[in-house]
Amino acid sequence: MSNQAKGMHGIWTSRWTFIMAATGSAVGLGNMWKFPYVAGSYGGGAFVLVYLVCILLIGVPVMMAEVLLGRQGRQSPINSMREAVAASDSPSGWRYIGWLGITAGLFILSFYAVIAGWALDYIVQMARGDLRGADGEMAAALFSNLTENPLRLILWQTIFLGLCVGVVAGGVKKGLGSAVEVLMPLLFVMLLGMLLYAILNGNFSAAWDFLFAVDFSSLTWRAVLEAMGLAFFTLSLGMGSIMAYGAYMPADASIGKTVLIVALFDSLVAIIAGLVIFSIVFSTTGIEPSAGPGLMFISLPVAFGNMPGGLLIGVVFFILVAIAAWSSAISLLEPAVAWLMEAKHIGRITANVVLASLAWALGLGTVFSFNIAADMTVAGFTFFDALDFLTANIMLPLGGLGIALFVGFVMKRELVSGQMSEMNGTAMGMWRLALCYLAPVAIASIFVMGIYDKFFL
Ligand code: PHE
Repeated sequence: MSNQAKGMHGIWTSRWTFIMAATGSAVGLGNMWKFPYVAGSYGGGAFVLVYLVCILLIGVPVMMAEVLLGRQGRQSPINSMREAVAASDSPSGWRYIGWLGITAGLFILSFYAVIAGWALDYIVQMARGDLRGADGEMAAALFSNLTENPLRLILWQTIFLGLCVGVVAGGVKKGLGSAVEVLMPLLFVMLLGMLLYAILNGNFSAAWDFLFAVDFSSLTWRAVLEAMGLAFFTLSLGMGSIMAYGAYMPADASIGKTVLIVALFDSLVAIIAGLVIFSIVFSTTGIEPSAGPGLMFISLPVAFGNMPGGLLIGVVFFILVAIAAWSSAISLLEPAVAWLMEAKHIGRITANVVLASLAWALGLGTVFSFNIAADMTVAGFTFFDALDFLTANIMLPLGGLGIALFVGFVMKRELVSGQMSEMNGTAMGMWRLALCYLAPVAIASIFVMGIYDKFFL
């Protein structure tokens, strides 16, 4: 059976669709919401530098390996992994990488839909003018009104998951492919518009200094672990999204070049989002960059509420965030849907609804973390904090480590080179060096030091 024939889910129309889909997966709440506030709380420049180095030296090589595994298997991550393991005569334990990934994906989707729901709510709040002339106190009160109201959170979470189900139901070409072909260019145009607005009306130079002035004295191992976790999270690595999308990649597209483009787009969006958000936030005095998760939902709205045309720009901004989240969330759902279709021979719609409902139910844990269960913490973690930490800082790096070691040392060489035929010798050598040694050593040491730092210091 040829690889192409095995792909029961279909193939992207072109390499460009793959790029849009993978960029859509990569660019999400990680770039728009998490990156700015995490960079803010770790002091800016030095953190940003470590983050970008992690993307280039760990993220890109691992992403190539993930695409390769997907395209080699042309099935869901679980079955692609199983087949690669069997074809390489290797111990069957390696196939758990696929399982780890699908589980991480559903965990992430569960909280992702809740946070994306906040963005949907803010589109309405901005459009209604609730934040006109708001000060910090009022914006904080509006944000608590939202997060302390479980029913309102559940309503938006449900709507957001419904939007994802709608796209995934259409399948690879008509659903995911068509959606990203429209959404991604729209997202870029909106983001560039926001950048222009921020340059004209915000404090652009302060934002620039904050993101690019490097001061290593404030950098801790914990910050490095966060930077690496964020690099994995933002590139959608280590959990099968990129593997699943790789399974639909045309056979003649170059993996190396394509992945570099996706990583470049993703980093650009994070940096531009950071510049936009901090320019706007710094334009209003008295707001700290280290505002934490509320940065986008408290500090930014205050600024929007007090700037010329700010309310309209605010609406555009939160639509942009919602689009970014939407195109990522579909990639969290797709790997599990593809697997359930293969394993249980059921239709796409059924698989889709079953899994989205599962994520929805698990998401209630996140919903309640902000209200009725806000005080139920273990080691200082609410349910949401725990899921966020467990996925981004543990499951994704572990999955990435497994993928790097498997493709680097275990997978049959001819299977690997068969997928990388377009790469020249030097590039191949660099990739192997990064994949076999650099990435695993970096992931393992950052992991150990970061966990030690977080829990024992
Ligand atoms: N990359 C997405 C973001 O930055 C999140 C994501 C993680 C999506 C893992 C898919 C898989 O928001």
